Order: sequence, then C-alpha cells, then structure tokens
Amino acid sequence: MKVITFNSCNICFVIALTLNFAWSFRYEPNWKSLDSRPLPSWYDEAKIGIFIHWGVFSVPSFGSEWFWKNLHDGSLFYVEFMKKNYRPGFTYQDFGPKFTAEFYNPEEWADIFNASGARYVVLTSKHHEGYTLWPSKYSWNWNAMDVGPGRDLIGDLTVNLYKPEIIWSDGDGEALDQYWKSKEFLAWLFNDSPVKDFVVVNDRWGKGIPCHHGSFYTCHDRYNPGKLLNHKWENCMTLDKSSWGFRREAKLEDYLTIHEVLTIMAETEIYL
Ligand SMILES: *[C@@H]1O[C@H](CO)[C@@H](O)[C@H](O)[C@H]1NC(C)=O
Repeated sequence: MKVITFNSCNICFVIALTLNFAWSFRYEPNWKSLDSRPLPSWYDEAKIGIFIHWGVFSVPSFGSEWFWKNLHDGSLFYVEFMKKNYRPGFTYQDFGPKFTAEFYNPEEWADIFNASGARYVVLTSKHHEGYTLWPSKYSWNWNAMDVGPGRDLIGDLTVNLYKPEIIWSDGDGEALDQYWKSKEFLAWLFNDSPVKDFVVVNDRWGKGIPCHHGSFYTCHDRYNPGKLLNHKWENCMTLDKSSWGFRREAKLEDYLTIHEVLTIMAETEIYL
C-alpha cells in the first residue's frame, strides 16, 4: 500500500518551538491562533484508530445508539420492541442498572486492538444521552460508577487516568462556538492542560466550525475528500453500514465485507 503523508507544518513547528523559548508562547482563544498549533506527530503516524460506541444503549442493543431519542420520538420500530420485551412503563433510564459490563476486560481489549494494527481508541465516554462512562460529578446518578457497572470504565482502559490523547467532541451543531466556549477551552487545553504537548482534537466545536478548525477535520461521518488536503483529516466510519453501536437485529449483509473495509482504508490512506 502506498502511503503518502502530507504535512505542511514542519516549518511552523520550528517557529513555535522558538517562540516557546523566547517569549513563552501561548495560544490565544481565537481560531487563527488555535489553528497555528502543529499536529502532534503521533497522530499522523498512527493512521488507524478504533471508535467504540458503548453505553446504556448497549443493553437493548437495538436499532442504534440513538435508542432513547428514537423511542421518545415515537418510532414504531422501537415502541414495538419495548412492548414486546419490557413491562409497561419501563423507561430508558431503567436500562442503566442493567448495563453491568460484566465481561469488560480492558487489558484484553487493548491487546486485541493493538494486534489489529490500530494505534488508538476513541471511546464514547459520554454519548448524546448524557450517561458518562466515568464517575462525572456533573452527571450525578447517570454515570458508570453510580448506575450499572459500579466502576470507572474509562479509568480502567487508560494507563494514565484522564490524560486523553484525543478529544473527540460532538453534538455541537445547535449552537455557536461562543456558546460552548470552545476557543477558551482549546486555549486552556493547548497551553496549560496536562496533555498540552500531545493532545489532538477533532473539529466539532460549534455551528460552522467542522471542516474549518481543529487538529484534524472530520467534516461529516464517513468523510473522504478524494484528494489531498493541506490539513489532517479523518474518515470516521462504521463497520455496520447503518449504526455506530452494536444492534442485535443486524444481518450479516448489513456489515461491510473485509474487501469493502480494506478498500475504504486504502482510499483513505492514499489521501491522508
Ligand atoms: C503492539 O503490537 C506491535 C506489533 O504490531 C508490537 O510490536 C507491540 O509490542 C504491541 N504492543 C503491546 C503493548 O502489546
């Protein structure tokens, strides 16, 4: 496989280092300054990561990881599933205590991921329904320590507790970056956080931001520009053609074949 890497930023890296020494350079909370940060090299070298959707929605494992919203919106597919399998009045929150993660063996996961050639993992530490896989004090009684596993699922998978190499933000599209205080957060992340030297971030930081700012562009799900870009980008994709989370009713033909997966990887790799 021919691998072309395109990195226009070797020069700014040298400049940034120099400034660092000279005037203790700091990123400002504006996109021009934040975008000037060079991409930490490990990300360009890693090439393949594994994106895992796992959480309370894995209990029904039906339809997709948007189970709660789809049920709430009255989708018959989900309403019928609930009627057939759960007592009347059973809510999405009632799935929480059933998310027990009893087969979770993070060392085994790490070995399997590494053996596949993947070099990093992005875990849905908080999906859109708000349940956190770590004991968040902001998500009281709706996190993996208080409800379900009784365990810090994130902490057990990482070596360093909460020193993420990637922050993959999502659900940003309903408000501007000013509302989320994205620029202030990123300036802190790049200047002062314990992960400032190696963290990389995606581009979902507010309305109009995706495909314009961030360490790498995700743009939209399954993005592949089909040409070289002068900015790092990601093809964030699924193996099940229609769901990010495991869904038990999926048929074999709903999954990409090995041939299809390898084709997509090769096409992505060429332009990366
Ligand atoms: C990961 O896999 C590579 C081979 O692909 C191997 O050299 C390395 O030792 C593995 N790392 C761990 C921590 O198992």
